Amino acid sequence: VSTASIEPARRISGIVSVPGDKSISHRYAILSALAEGPSEIQNFSPAADCASTLACLERLGVAIRRKENRVSVRGAGLRGLRAPRRKLDAENSGTTMRLLAGVLAAQAFESVITGDASLRRRPMRRVIEPLEQMGAKIAARDGEFAPLEIRGAALTPIHYTLPIPSAQVKSAVLLAGLYAQGETRVTEPVRTRDHTELALAEFGADVLTADRTIRLRARARLEGRSLTVPGDISSAAFLLAAALALPGSQLVASGVGLNPTRTAILDFLAAMGAPIQLTELSMRHGELVGDISIRHAPLRGGVVAGDAVAQMIDELPVLAALGPFTEEGIEIRNAQELRVKESDRIAALAENLRNMGAQVEEFPDGLRVAGRSAGVLRGASVDPRGDHRMAMALAVAALGAKGATRIRHAECVNVSYPEFFSTLRKLAQRA
Ligand code: S3P
Repeated sequence: VSTASIEPARRISGIVSVPGDKSISHRYAILSALAEGPSEIQNFSPAADCASTLACLERLGVAIRRKENRVSVRGAGLRGLRAPRRKLDAENSGTTMRLLAGVLAAQAFESVITGDASLRRRPMRRVIEPLEQMGAKIAARDGEFAPLEIRGAALTPIHYTLPIPSAQVKSAVLLAGLYAQGETRVTEPVRTRDHTELALAEFGADVLTADRTIRLRARARLEGRSLTVPGDISSAAFLLAAALALPGSQLVASGVGLNPTRTAILDFLAAMGAPIQLTELSMRHGELVGDISIRHAPLRGGVVAGDAVAQMIDELPVLAALGPFTEEGIEIRNAQELRVKESDRIAALAENLRNMGAQVEEFPDGLRVAGRSAGVLRGASVDPRGDHRMAMALAVAALGAKGATRIRHAECVNVSYPEFFSTLRKLAQRA
């Protein structure tokens, strides 16, 4: 159990490469496992969440070798998974549980997937519902919470319209759809990250998106691939925010995934006045990749609401932490989803930012962090509630506070960005 101590910094400067994208790493791992033949994944995310996915796949009989961030998978084929002898453990990872639920729903065996205390409190009805419509039987505590006992079946295709914008739910249905004879369709009224669709195409699936509807036709086989994961823009966002908080900062994050379903945060920062440049653009396996250059500039502040919430869902904590450094503050609305993430992120942000001296108003569906108050931020002892993104967001605020901030249980950053604190230390100029 470790406490991280964050000293104030004058500015951030340097060139950094962030870890491989967590969302994409999960998907490449799962599809490699379901493909025929070998796959090789470079720059695989060092996140504990992605290790949870690999561990679950191994328990399903998939042969996986990992050397640092290179992962080799011997594909089992769509029909080659084996009944696990023990429960599958997704630990802290919602993506692991929800995506694998889609795969397990189609297997000819029963399996149980569980997670840590945080994950066992998170809503699962959203995947149970469509997967049961397809023919699986899923038992859950109170019909909602993990552990999930999944009895797979021969699935029938459905046309599912997402009641809440969630890439995880969309992905669960599409992965199940690989096994459903005929065409599975998912309509998403609000666009969410499309890594699953892109990765499915990359592995040879028959998938097509038009007019907010994804159509997937079952195929007998997927082909193993050699892939490289782009850097994680959601991890980069913490460093970009740190640069924006501190005058004189300049930062380049290189090799970052710039998939347009993930870059709403950049658009929002730019609209507030952040000078952002994208260079070295290239396409890799359907994913746009490039370098992000940013320097400090005064930020206006703004409101995130409506569809933008889903498009920036993982960046909202750090955006809130930037609030005191803006002119008009940051307001986040229509973001009830934040309450069912790894922690209740609205409550955790309100409590901890107030603790550091920020002025915060909390709403059922969001919060408002007052602007022009960087001067009153002071170091404090804060509790990220076991939530990686909370710990990193608070670290950003801490860089611009007076006095040191102690982040308790800071090891929770391992869930997505194990090197976060050491990277921040290298980039922070104190003199
Ligand atoms: C993810 C989707 C989002 C996001 C999560 C990763 C994914 O969750 O918050 O960190 O990889 O599909 P929801 O689908 O619940 O919005």
